[in-house]
Amino acid sequence: MTDDDEPSVEDIEIELLLEALYRRYHYDFRHYARASIKRRLFQARDRLGAGSISGLQEQVLRDPDALAPLLNYLTVQVSEMFRDPSYFRALREKVVPHLRTYPSLKIWVAGCSNGEELYSLAILFREEGLEQRTIFYATDINPKALRAAEAGVYPLSQIRKFTENHQKSGARTSLSDYYTADYDRAIFDSSLRANVVFSDHSLATDSVFAEMHLISCRNVLIYFDRALQDRAVGLFDSSLVRRGFLGLGRKESLRFSAHAAAFEDLVRDEKLYQRRDR
Ligand SMILES: C[S@@+](CC[C@H](N)C(=O)[O-])C[C@H]1O[C@@H](n2cnc3c(N)ncnc32)[C@H](O)[C@@H]1O
Repeated sequence: MTDDDEPSVEDIEIELLLEALYRRYHYDFRHYARASIKRRLFQARDRLGAGSISGLQEQVLRDPDALAPLLNYLTVQVSEMFRDPSYFRALREKVVPHLRTYPSLKIWVAGCSNGEELYSLAILFREEGLEQRTIFYATDINPKALRAAEAGVYPLSQIRKFTENHQKSGARTSLSDYYTADYDRAIFDSSLRANVVFSDHSLATDSVFAEMHLISCRNVLIYFDRALQDRAVGLFDSSLVRRGFLGLGRKESLRFSAHAAAFEDLVRDEKLYQRRDR
């Protein structure tokens, strides 16, 4: 906004571009935190040589091939295996004992990016003897990220950090049991994804698709405005079994959510919640 509260030309262009993306491709970024969308659209404008946000709109409206590169700017793919290891330790100690009581399990990794969080959970479930009874759903809106998640190949340079994280998560095995090194890449064992369904699913536009025992959605809601966060948490509420579990990232919280009353804290610092009985 300018000083006299009139939207700037760029604010208007951004609104029109987001509307165009929604109307043409059904990708809905209209309720993402505007400051960070703006920053990333400026980057896209400069690096994709569009000249202006309207130029970017023109490109993407007329050329479907321009969509994928733009999506790579609009979504953030930073992740790690066993990222914030204390979260995974808390899962082992506080959630796994409950999960053991179910004969079969459905786990949803919402906003799975390139799959690092999914493989972390698959390894943890194998270590805890739960893998055979589990179906994992790994969803995202970025097709390139979903393809990378299905491939399960990561730069070898990241393995030291992943290994440290894994150890801190209370590992019962060695991370090297799960990948083979090939030049500068670590290729994760395909058996880890034997029970995984990879799917395009948007927390902004799609609905419930299965009944879950645990939903892990970390470092995704931070990119949404309050209304969209509420939509997503409402979706999680409707997707969980009675007394099911929800894990959010360290930076997220249910405290101000319209659905806060539906959940109770399980491990407060880790933003691990359990659905209340109703
Ligand atoms: C920073 S990554 C988080 C990866 C992983 N969960 C973690 O914590 O390391 C955010 C992911 O959310 C995805 N995302 C963004 N908007 C989404 C939406 N509306 N529905 C589902 N996923 C979305 C992005 O494509 C990206 O892969």
